[in-house]
Amino acid sequence: MKVLIVGSGGREHAIAMAVAKSPKVEKIYCAPGNAGIAAQAECVPITAMEFERLADFAQENQVDLTIIGMDDPLVGGIVDVFEERGLRVFGPRKNAAILEGSKAFSKELMKKYKIPTAGYETFDDADAALAYLETAKLPIVLKADGLALGKGVLICNTLEEAKYGVKEIMQDKKFGTAGNRMVVEEFMTGREVSVLSFVDGKTIKIMSSAQDHKRAQDGDQGLNTGGMGTFSPSPFYTKEVDEFCKKYIYQSTVDAMAAEGREFKGIIFFGLMLTEEGPKVLEYNARFGDPEAQVVLPRMKNDIVEVMEACIDGKLDTIDLQFEDNAAVCVVLASDGYPVSYKKGYPITGFEKFEGRDDRFCYHAGTAFNDRGEIVTNGGRVLGITATGADLKEARANAYAATEWISFENKYMRHDIGKAIDEA
Ligand code: AMP
Ligand code: GLY
Repeated sequence: MKVLIVGSGGREHAIAMAVAKSPKVEKIYCAPGNAGIAAQAECVPITAMEFERLADFAQENQVDLTIIGMDDPLVGGIVDVFEERGLRVFGPRKNAAILEGSKAFSKELMKKYKIPTAGYETFDDADAALAYLETAKLPIVLKADGLALGKGVLICNTLEEAKYGVKEIMQDKKFGTAGNRMVVEEFMTGREVSVLSFVDGKTIKIMSSAQDHKRAQDGDQGLNTGGMGTFSPSPFYTKEVDEFCKKYIYQSTVDAMAAEGREFKGIIFFGLMLTEEGPKVLEYNARFGDPEAQVVLPRMKNDIVEVMEACIDGKLDTIDLQFEDNAAVCVVLASDGYPVSYKKGYPITGFEKFEGRDDRFCYHAGTAFNDRGEIVTNGGRVLGITATGADLKEARANAYAATEWISFENKYMRHDIGKAIDEA
């Protein structure tokens, strides 16, 4: 089989490595890819939003399966473009990717189908939102409706902050058209867990749980980032939590989408908060998490291509999804200054130590080749260093030891990824 992966981050590198293990696959392409993905795949210089060019490429090169890694093309309807041309593609259609693409949609769905989530109101104009805030309980959460690179959520502790937030989202359009509508949501407290799942329209199979660290600095301080590290499984995702979510959240979401005429095929990522009243949905995503994929996929025993094909064909019920009884930790190596401003183009050394290993992985997120053919830093998040271990403690020690194998100027990382597991 020939497989095309669309995207260029650490998540797509983890997908590429999983696909490369499939005995069915003889050739992998990645558009646009990066310097690390180039070891598994032939990188193709087409960006993720060029749907027609990507479909042309898939047709001309007889690609058997295209996997969409990123949210923007899914929400923009890339799957519909591929399907119209009779091309096999893994991911939700536009009318289902709205589960991630519109927070107002997903909140309304949860309300209608009684899926546990925070209470909320939706606003199309700033004046109504401002009037509502006058009597709302603090802290309060403001969310731009559309995609905003994971940055469209503001947690406001005072009325002044909340008013300023409405101005930023709805009037100044800080997140562009994503802020034409806004969800104002009740503030919840508890531990967060990420649960990824495969879905074929009717059946849902849950992957092993994970937890992300979104803030830039140790102790969950500093600005929100795309994610500074992850661990899997989450010790807080207990059997009771799993049973609750299976009963009230997972299948209910898949059935609700089907009932709305928006059959969902692909990955549903449940962002959960474990509140005192039980697990509640913080958000849905329509794709693998980044860097959740970097700790979940190396632990998956199944052939990922077989599972994805079963999703496309509506036969996921025939798959026995299995994970290793171990743990994994991913520490992101970033450019100092991320997520605000940072320099690029520094040569990176130390990759050779990871070669041929199946317990240490160096996933590339923001890397490129310079004109001398060296691999250099090319983004805020540069690499994701993942290690497995018998348990989380061992995996964490292994991952931090492996971060020392890599050197580049301005290398920055958090030192407390997975530390919360000590409290479990
Ligand atoms: P989201 O993009 O919706 O996952 O929001 C980003 C982050 O904001 C989440 O991971 C939470 O840490 C936080 N957050 C979102 N919604 C709420 C809420 N209702 N209460 C408390 N924190 C929230
Ligand atoms: N790590 C969070 C996300 O991928 O949205």
